This record gives sequence, C-alpha cells and structure tokens, in this order.
Amino acid sequence: MATIPNRKQYIVTGASSGIGAAVTQLLADHGCQVLGLSRRPAKCDSKLVSSLEVDLSKLSQLEQNLESLKELAVIDGVILSHGYGDFGALEQFSSQRIRKLIDTNLTSCILLSRLFLPILKTQGHGTLVLIGSESALRGGRQGAVYSATKFALRGLAQSLRQEASTAGVRVLLVNPGMVDTPFFDELHFGPGDDVNNALEAEDVAEAVFHGLTAPSHAVVDEINLSPLKHVVRSQSDR
Ligand SMILES: NC(=O)c1ccc[n+]([C@@H]2O[C@H](COP(=O)([O-])OP(=O)(O)OC[C@H]3O[C@@H](n4cnc5c(N)ncnc54)[C@H](OP(=O)(O)O)[C@@H]3O)[C@@H](O)[C@H]2O)c1
Repeated sequence: MATIPNRKQYIVTGASSGIGAAVTQLLADHGCQVLGLSRRPAKCDSKLVSSLEVDLSKLSQLEQNLESLKELAVIDGVILSHGYGDFGALEQFSSQRIRKLIDTNLTSCILLSRLFLPILKTQGHGTLVLIGSESALRGGRQGAVYSATKFALRGLAQSLRQEASTAGVRVLLVNPGMVDTPFFDELHFGPGDDVNNALEAEDVAEAVFHGLTAPSHAVVDEINLSPLKHVVRSQSDR
C-alpha cells in the first residue's frame, strides 16, 4: 500500500465480505486508508482501499506472501476478520477438515499477530482487533471445533493484551452473535428471517470502530454483542 501522509492506515483481513467488508467501508468513509487481505479483492470501491489477494490458511507461505507488509511505515490498526464456520458432530469431521478450520480461524491469526505486533510495538501505538464470536464465550451443539478456535482466540487476545500494553498497543476482541452475512451461505442453518434475529455486519463494524477510536489511554478489552432475539432456522425451514 503506498501510504498517504497523515491518513490513518489499517489492515483488514476478510475485507471481501461480511464483517471485514463493513469495517473496510466504515474506515474508508472516515478517510482512513485500508489494505484488505482475502482471497478475493476487498468489497469497497473507495480509492483509499487496496487489496492483497492471499489465502491466509496457507500457513507455510503466509510470511513469504506478506513479506512486503513488514516495510509499512505506520499501521494504526490490524483487524482480523477472516474465517468461516463448519458445524456438525465431531465424529463427522476428518482430521483434514479439523485442521483446515483451525489453520484458517486460529493459527493464521496467531501468525498474523506475530507478524504485525512487533511493528505496532516498535511504533509505540496501534490496535489489534480479533473478531471472535459468541462461540468464544460458550460452546454449543455441533460447534466443537469452531468453538475451540474462538475460545483460543480469546486466550490469545487476553495474553497479547498484557504483553503489548507496555508498548502502547491495545488488543480488542469482538464477539458477535449471529450476523447476517454470507457466512451462512454454505451452512445448514442461519438466523431466523425477522430483522431482530441477526446483527448487521455494519453493527459489528461500529463496535470495532468504537474500540479503534477510544482515547489512547483507554482500552476496550472485549465487546460482546448479540441480536435482540436468538431464533435459528434450518435450511429445510426455507
Ligand atoms: N456471521 C456471523 O454470524 C458471525 C458471528 C460471529 C463471528 N463471526 C466471525 O466473523 C468473521 C467474519 O465472518 P463473516 O460473517 O464476515 O463471514 P463472510 O461474509 O463469509 O466473510 C468471511 C471472510 O473471510 C475471508 N476468508 C475466509 N477464508 C479465508 C482464507 N483462507 N484466506 C483469506 N481470507 C479468508 C473471506 O474472504 P475470501 O473468501 O475472499 O478469501 C471473507 O472475506 C469470521 O471469523 C467469523 O467466524 C461471524
């Protein structure tokens, strides 16, 4: 990303869809420059947004694929909003299926944190935002592996928060309930049709923005937000 002086610079993963796309749009609307990382380009046509198309689940190539980002002069924040859901009874999961979900939702976030935190610490400011889930707070039926990845993200956030605060860096975990995004496109369930049954991606983006724009002495540690009602429909209800 060619940096524009005096503009805040953010990196957003999952910028091609859903929550990451909404965060990208909101930051661009506020005049921030955003580099979106996902396999498809960022879903935002602002001139302030550029894309690096990368598969973040390819862990062995991750550092090499993102090598150029180490050269960025200033990063005001990194928002990790990539991931997918895969649900079912644990015994239905092959080891390959388990590994893919953990690599994508968890291990890539650990490696990205390892890549970006030293940059934030060296510059002495910045915010790392992890998109967790209500599944980071309680496990539920058919969600064993997904929930395990999200619980682990919470531990990651809590530990990194303690390690990074002395360097002026903040770590925020945002745990949404069901959000109306393409996350559910390939799943056998989704939020019920009523508007009260799902958050909008923009609601989550506002929560992220609140954490990013808090005064520098204040840390918003964790935000849990849910739709008003918790009604789940199965695909067969449609
Ligand atoms: N929707 C919900 O109800 C909900 C609730 C709680 C938490 N979350 C969490 O929120 C995050 C975003 O989900 P969403 O609802 O915004 O879903 P989404 O609309 O399906 O977006 C997922 C994003 O992740 C990116 N992604 C997935 N696999 C990737 C890979 N291997 N490499 C690079 N990017 C990858 C996708 O980009 P490409 O396909 O272009 O690569 C896409 O931009 C996820 O971590 C999810 O677990 C979602």
